[in-house]
Amino acid sequence: MEQNDLIYKPTHSKILEDGSFTWKAPSNIALIKYWGKREPQLPENASISFTLDACSTLTTINFSKGLPNENIDFDIYFEDEKKDDFKPKIEKFFERIKQYVPYISDYNFVIKTRNTFPHSSGIASSASGMAALTLCILSMEKALNPDISDELFYKKASFLARLGSGSAARSIEGPLVVWGEHHKIENSSDLFGIKFSGTVHENFKNYHDTILLVDKGEKQVSSTVGHNLMNNHSFAQQRFVQANENMIKISETLKTGDLKSFISIVESEALTLHSMMMTSHPYFILMKPNTLEIINKIWAFREKTNSNICFTLDAGANVHILFPEKEKESVNDFIISELIQFCQNNHYICDRVGFGARQIQ
Ligand code: PMV
Repeated sequence: MEQNDLIYKPTHSKILEDGSFTWKAPSNIALIKYWGKREPQLPENASISFTLDACSTLTTINFSKGLPNENIDFDIYFEDEKKDDFKPKIEKFFERIKQYVPYISDYNFVIKTRNTFPHSSGIASSASGMAALTLCILSMEKALNPDISDELFYKKASFLARLGSGSAARSIEGPLVVWGEHHKIENSSDLFGIKFSGTVHENFKNYHDTILLVDKGEKQVSSTVGHNLMNNHSFAQQRFVQANENMIKISETLKTGDLKSFISIVESEALTLHSMMMTSHPYFILMKPNTLEIINKIWAFREKTNSNICFTLDAGANVHILFPEKEKESVNDFIISELIQFCQNNHYICDRVGFGARQIQ
C-alpha cells in the first residue's frame, strides 16, 4: 500500500453538516521497543507491543460545518476542563494529517477527552489519545464515504495516529501489533501497525500487565527529545539491528510459548532502552531507586519460585509487570506483599492484554 492510497478521494455523495463521534482507544506496552525515528515519524526499527485493555483514552469530537479554514478551528477539553496548552500538539497533528483527510478543514471541532487511568500517573497517554482522536476523525470519513472497507479504515487509522505519536500506530488493534518494516514479517510497514499474524501460544492469552507507579510526575525526557538522542548515538546502528533480530526471536517465542525465552528478550529490551538513554549526549537516568528495588525483588522472586513474572519499562521510572494468566494469584500476592511499598502512594494499575479500540457512539 502506498501513502497516496490513503488520501481521501471525495467520491462521496453523503453530506455531513454536524454530529459527534466517540471512540475509546487503548494504551500499549512495547515488548520490542521503538526508540529512534526519522521524518515523517518513521521508525528506525520494527517494534511489537501488547495492546492493553484497562488503560485507555475516551474521546468525543463534536463537529459542525464552518467556512473552509487554513487553520483548523477547535477547542479541547481534558477531563471537562478547557486545555489550551494541549492545542499546539493537536494543531501540529492536524497540520500533518490534513493532506490525507482534507475534509477536516471544512469543520469546527470541540474535542473532549479523558483517560481511564489517573491523570499524572506518569503513564504516557499520547498513544491512546492520538489513536482515539484519529478514529473519531475517520468516523467522519466513513460517514462521508460508507464504502470504505474495515481493512482500509484500520490501516488508515494506524497510519494517521502514527503521525501524532509513533507508538499510537500500535494502539488501534490488538492483542499484538507490529509496527515497522521487517523482512521476516509479511505486510509489515513503517507507515502503519499491523496485527501480529504469527501463531500465538496459549501461554500468552490474557497476559497480565500490572503497572507499578513509581514516579507519577511529568516525564523527565519528552519522547521527541528521547528519539532525537538516537540521531548521533554511538550505538544506534547496532541497536536498530539488535531490535530487528529480537523481533525474529520474539516471534518464535510467541509461537512456542517458551516463557523463559520471552522473559529474557523482554527484560533485555527494557534495559537496552534505558542503556541507550544512559549512553546518549546529554545522558539521562530515567529509573528511580525504587525501579531498581522492584527489579531486584522480581529477580529474587523468580529465582525462589521459578515464576514466569518479568518486567518491562517505558521511557520512565514506572515498572510494567508481565505475567501469564495461570500465575495471577501467586503474582498478585507477591505484588501486594512485596512491591506496592515502592509505588508512589501505593498506587498501581492492574491491566491485561486487550483487543483494540472500540467505537462508543
Ligand atoms: O510514541 P512515542 O514517540 O511516545 O515513543 C514511545 C517509545 C517507547 O514507549 C519508549 C517505546 C515504545 O515502543 O513504545
